[in-house]
Amino acid sequence: MAEGTKVCTRVQFEHYVRDFKMPQFEKTTVHMRDPERVEQIICSLIKGGASKLQIITDFDMTLSKFSVNGKRCPTCHNIIDNCSLVTDECRQKLLQLKNKYYPIEIDPHLTMEEKYPFMVEWYFKSHSLLVEQRLERDKLSQVVRESEAALREGYEQFFDRLHQHNVPVFIFSAGLGDVLEEIIQQAGVYHPNVKVVSNFMDFDENGVLKGFKGELIHVYNKHDGALRNTEYFKQLKEYCNVVLMGDSLGDLSMADGVPSVENILKIGFLNDKVEERLDKYLDSYDIVLVKDETLEVPNAILQKIL
Ligand code: TMP
Ligand code: MG
Repeated sequence: MAEGTKVCTRVQFEHYVRDFKMPQFEKTTVHMRDPERVEQIICSLIKGGASKLQIITDFDMTLSKFSVNGKRCPTCHNIIDNCSLVTDECRQKLLQLKNKYYPIEIDPHLTMEEKYPFMVEWYFKSHSLLVEQRLERDKLSQVVRESEAALREGYEQFFDRLHQHNVPVFIFSAGLGDVLEEIIQQAGVYHPNVKVVSNFMDFDENGVLKGFKGELIHVYNKHDGALRNTEYFKQLKEYCNVVLMGDSLGDLSMADGVPSVENILKIGFLNDKVEERLDKYLDSYDIVLVKDETLEVPNAILQKIL
């Protein structure tokens, strides 16, 4: 960690934990640069309650797990990469792309602007390969059922509580929308308060993949989200308190342009290259959860608010 980094001391930390009355904050996975600020934001969110709250969240590696027993879990894309519908040759090419571009995605020494063109390149190449495979819409459900897709522990409470209190949930993902929807559908948590904005496949009249709908969403163009979904956010203009969750620095801009935000709590999952990236994550996320495969902390906060 860089010199001069201010992280709260154990004593301060325990004080805040006590005040929050949230034992989940005692977990060693929880890191905060400024716990006092976190406390203030949470207090404002509690004050606002359900009627002012909305959730804006990423999907891959935020709602889904990064790893189980040291083994990496798949992103939406990886579920397709690994399935029997794609040829071995194509799988090999997709893997090569991942090996080239994923290190760029998480490189702590490159700015988001520097990474941007590489992400566009990755998505263009990867989506072109998928189209070549002529994937069939009707097979997706089975592919997801047989995959190793895993949502973070506590996902049922997370989605069910938000549904129960009618809190709008905006899942904003640079993954594959069709796969994502299938995952949350099969998990039984695709409630009516959930809206998914992602890269949706476009199928021809025979149900064969021919391309992708709308503008591409990649890891570093999420700042356009509100702009491209003005109707949704216009309807939610009374919902001025936001809990934002992500795992990438690109996810921090997901609430940019959302009208009338008064309080926003940013929760970041830091899954990979922790040493190199913790400092930056602490600068930009209010709460950083390091190698935490659960939704315990978000759930504890939501329990206080709702
Ligand atoms: P997210 O916005 O829901 O996190 O989804 C985007 C993730 O998908 C991001 O981490 C990059 C990853 N990805 C793949 O795993 N394979 C691919 O081929 C592409 C284009 C992206
Ligand atoms: Mg992600």
